[in-house]
Amino acid sequence: MNFFPTTKPLSQIATDLLAVQIFENDKTLEPNIKELDRVLGGEISELLKVKDFRGKFCETQIMHTSGQIAAKRVVLLGLGKKAEYDLDKLRSAISTLAPYIQKYRIKNLAIALTKTLPKKSAVELAAQAITEGVILSNYRFVHYKKLEEEEKPAELLNIQLVPANLRDKTKIQKGVAVGQILGTAVNYARDLGNHPANVATPAHLARHALDLAKQYRKNLKVKILDSPGLRKENMRGLLAVSQGSDEEPKFIILEYQGKKSAPTVALVGKGITFDSGGISIKPSDKMEEMKFDMAGAATVLALIKAACELKLPLNLVGLIPATENLPSGKALKPGDIIRSRSGKTIEVVNTDAEGRMVLMDALDYAKKYKPALVIDFATLTGAIVVALGDDIIGAFTNQNSFFPGLQAAAQITGEKIWPMPLEKEYEQFLKSDFADLRNIGALRYGDHIIGALFLKNFVNYPWIHLDIAGVAWANREKPYRPKGATGVGVRLAIEFLKSFKPRR
Ligand code: BES
Ligand code: ZN
Ligand code: ZN
Repeated sequence: MNFFPTTKPLSQIATDLLAVQIFENDKTLEPNIKELDRVLGGEISELLKVKDFRGKFCETQIMHTSGQIAAKRVVLLGLGKKAEYDLDKLRSAISTLAPYIQKYRIKNLAIALTKTLPKKSAVELAAQAITEGVILSNYRFVHYKKLEEEEKPAELLNIQLVPANLRDKTKIQKGVAVGQILGTAVNYARDLGNHPANVATPAHLARHALDLAKQYRKNLKVKILDSPGLRKENMRGLLAVSQGSDEEPKFIILEYQGKKSAPTVALVGKGITFDSGGISIKPSDKMEEMKFDMAGAATVLALIKAACELKLPLNLVGLIPATENLPSGKALKPGDIIRSRSGKTIEVVNTDAEGRMVLMDALDYAKKYKPALVIDFATLTGAIVVALGDDIIGAFTNQNSFFPGLQAAAQITGEKIWPMPLEKEYEQFLKSDFADLRNIGALRYGDHIIGALFLKNFVNYPWIHLDIAGVAWANREKPYRPKGATGVGVRLAIEFLKSFKPRR
């Protein structure tokens, strides 16, 4: 897909589909749309007058132009009320194009920007949001399906963005470049999450990391630790979880250097490529979805890829402990005691609380880099799904001053995040009679908090833990979010890192 600005009048743009955006109950059409309406013989104003189209949020109206203008078709997109218009409304309205792109097998698309900008944004951000909307809403995962010709994904080639002010051309160029990088990175994370666990193994994740290193060799170094390397590094938590599986565990280390003098931020991603629960086995209903338990790892790979392309002026370290969690004669058992890399011993009370067992070693490993910040991404607990549902990330941090920055980034990217407490009083529930810690709380509820408190034992740096168990997989479609792996967290983290300044 190739995005670029065009400054022709709307009626002269040669394209398969021209998208024009209209606010609800807007009394006067914007000048360029008014001109288009005139050439079309007043058809747009007629539709509005008889209320066949009202500009309601995500409403659409297709018009065939029978040669009156250079575009074959015009589609009106409703943006809703001007007072409620923000970047996510724009992204969502743009995503209503996807069914038309598919139905008419659109190759060339043009989108007119409105003069009114979304709340708290600039032209660059609007162009970026449009680009993300197009890329994210046209994502389909069809690797394993034989499709009829018309079911195959349409091949969208050129997308022209038409500014409302001609002098915004270069701003649009900048916005689409960023949007394209981010949209593509999210879809990359989605692909990783959607591949089944017999394909997306720890070795598959490692191969992806090595491919990235090849592609961006100027700024990126990748190292993979196998079992012998893990033993040398005392990463017995990761080794213990992998015991029951025939797939080799991998610890993936990605080092991105964006700017020598800049601080280092480590990104840690839970990479359980299949979570059966192990000996504490899960019920079989919906167990197939547990192939997405590596969504944190996918997020980290996508973030590093995006950072390389954006040339983010930071140093990033990606750390991914990757393994399956399966039962077998060799598997980890409830009651087993494991010595973590940090030296603390863990009584494994439930083998299904495996995420924290692999993350504890990765978080400890991160200390090597003296990071200014560590962010971990993990589908850690079912409890966060109970607490926040399927669309809100649960955020924990040992420095509450990070929350406003996270919320501000979420405002821009349209992802949702909510602060959760590292409640001290609950720490007592992690005490074990036989080891330094138990891996599940002795309290029946609040496991999202207890899981985070468990991880806190292994950090000595500014730290943000994002529990993405609810948001990383969708059983319900939303604008630009198809069912399956969502890639949620990728755009948010980039937006947050763009303005990250270490605290003293
Ligand atoms: N990967 C799961 C968390 C999960 C559950 C993600 C449901 C998405 C949907 C994690 O490894 C797990 O199994 N957690 C257990 C912890 C429990 C044993 C303390 C859980 O949440 O049930
Ligand atoms: Zn589990
Ligand atoms: Zn898990």
